[in-house]
Amino acid sequence: MMSLRCSSRLIRQLNKINLKNCRCYSDSSRINFMKDKLKHGPNLSEFITGSSEPILTERPNIPYLPDSIQDNLKRKVFFDVYGCQMNLNDTDIVWSILKKEGFERTKIEEEADIFLVMTCAIREGAETKIWHRLDHLRGFKRRRALSKYKNRPVKIGLLGCMAERLKEKLIEKEKAVDVVAGPDSYRDLPRLLALTDSGQTAVNVLLSLDETYADVVPVRLNQDSVSAFISIMRGCDNMCTYCIVPFTRGRERSRPIASIVDEVRHLSDQGVKEVTLLGQNVNSYRDLSGQSEKLDTHMAKGFKTVYKNKKGGLRFADLLDKVSAVDPEMRIRFTAAHPKDFPDEVLQVISERDNICKMVHLPAQSGSSAVLERMRRGYSREAYLDLVGHVKAAIPGVGLSTDMICGFCGETEEEFQETMSLMQLVDYNVAFLFPYSMREKTTAYRRYKDDVPEQVKKERHNRMVDLYRRKSQLLNEAEIGHTHLVLVESIVQKTGQILGRNELYIKVLFDQTDILSQDGGKRAVTPGDFVAVRIVGAKSSLLNGVPLYHTSIRDFYRDKSWGERYAVSL
Ligand code: 5AD
Ligand code: SF4
Repeated sequence: MMSLRCSSRLIRQLNKINLKNCRCYSDSSRINFMKDKLKHGPNLSEFITGSSEPILTERPNIPYLPDSIQDNLKRKVFFDVYGCQMNLNDTDIVWSILKKEGFERTKIEEEADIFLVMTCAIREGAETKIWHRLDHLRGFKRRRALSKYKNRPVKIGLLGCMAERLKEKLIEKEKAVDVVAGPDSYRDLPRLLALTDSGQTAVNVLLSLDETYADVVPVRLNQDSVSAFISIMRGCDNMCTYCIVPFTRGRERSRPIASIVDEVRHLSDQGVKEVTLLGQNVNSYRDLSGQSEKLDTHMAKGFKTVYKNKKGGLRFADLLDKVSAVDPEMRIRFTAAHPKDFPDEVLQVISERDNICKMVHLPAQSGSSAVLERMRRGYSREAYLDLVGHVKAAIPGVGLSTDMICGFCGETEEEFQETMSLMQLVDYNVAFLFPYSMREKTTAYRRYKDDVPEQVKKERHNRMVDLYRRKSQLLNEAEIGHTHLVLVESIVQKTGQILGRNELYIKVLFDQTDILSQDGGKRAVTPGDFVAVRIVGAKSSLLNGVPLYHTSIRDFYRDKSWGERYAVSL
């Protein structure tokens, strides 16, 4: 009697919800709740209070969801990740959402029911790689359909920036693609995948003004890694004229500090030794979720934005302060940054905290003020050089990295020479160097001509790479004889050697030996250890060392400040 009453009440309630028009129609918790009620019936409090929450005693007919998702056939997902670190972290978010819905993960193609390809659209080369991968997956799908496993059809989903850029075109052109989901629609994936069961293709490429996935705890695909990524903000408002990111990832929005700090704590409890805070432009982070007395912080001298600065909220310096306080034995890194947002407060907190890596990403993009103007970067060569000097003075011994583009629209040989001279002047420890690739939708696409011939772009790119290699070789050689704090990442399978990274994110390789541990005994080195390593050899992107002793961040820096060991150049 009871169950009949409950059941009819529930069905009345469900009918009241117009699931198709309701924004939360894919709400997984509601579905899980229903599944739970179907299986176990009402709990005691629901029984006594006659709670207004729906109580299920029979399967409701939810027209938009095929049975498979409700029964959850343990479909296996294979992930393919292309592009930046942000994409790696987004894949962890996707995996967290799907895992909750009962999907499983496989690393073996043959076992997979669903292939999800996390895509990148930043340059044509990135997209070309993904088209090749899609060719392969299309063949795989066809072979499965003809095999004895044809009752387990393969589904292919394209996620991320390329999905956002090409949208429905992907389905029209690429008949093999079943799901297209942009960077802000990952919560909708279970529903999109369910739609494909009835043979439909499913697209959700809506961009959001507020989606930060703050409440989704990413499940790391690589659980063994000693380091993890945390996405602190999404989107970008800068609108550099060459860049597709504002169009594929939408407007800039920041995740509340509290949820970031919780995630850092959670990762620290799991034994993670290094987190990298991620965003397109992390140093313009602004948490507007709480009340704050703070007024605006200022930009570095000589820098401007194309958008109206938001006011108030907690800024990147506040975030660094809170995050670095969670666990003094956890290294903190951050990327990517824009040179305009390095006020003194940020530099100060980096210089004060031993566990914030003294490595600052200052993507110059070009050394020519005229090109910078066309790129709409908001600074000149001179303002950039002033900033470099300021950062070096504020954080003695700081490492610098950059992104550079050659062959941008209208770039003359003289303008390119200015990029080369900037690279001569500034000692970059790490540089990401790209030939310009025209992207549809961008301002450059509409306003300028992509007039530097491919061959010239290629040749300029080679010259930049040569210069960078020569300079980083010299910089690394200068480290010979110094002792670096190295976080051990892995043991090289072939040689048994140990691979780790120093504070500047340069790889350090050394032989396995038992070394003095902090308890006075001796022990071998394992991933996750902090080891003091004397540098004995250098290549342009690798240091060779001799391990001295096990240590910790606090012990290593107890007697010496970071800057003491380095001469301030520039
Ligand atoms: N062509 C070449 N490089 C680009 N980048 C962004 N857009 C383009 C483009 N259209 C580079 C910039 C940016 C990095 C992530 O990618 O240097 O900082
Ligand atoms: Fe692209 Fe410029 Fe935003 Fe970086 S800051 S993501 S280059 S628009």
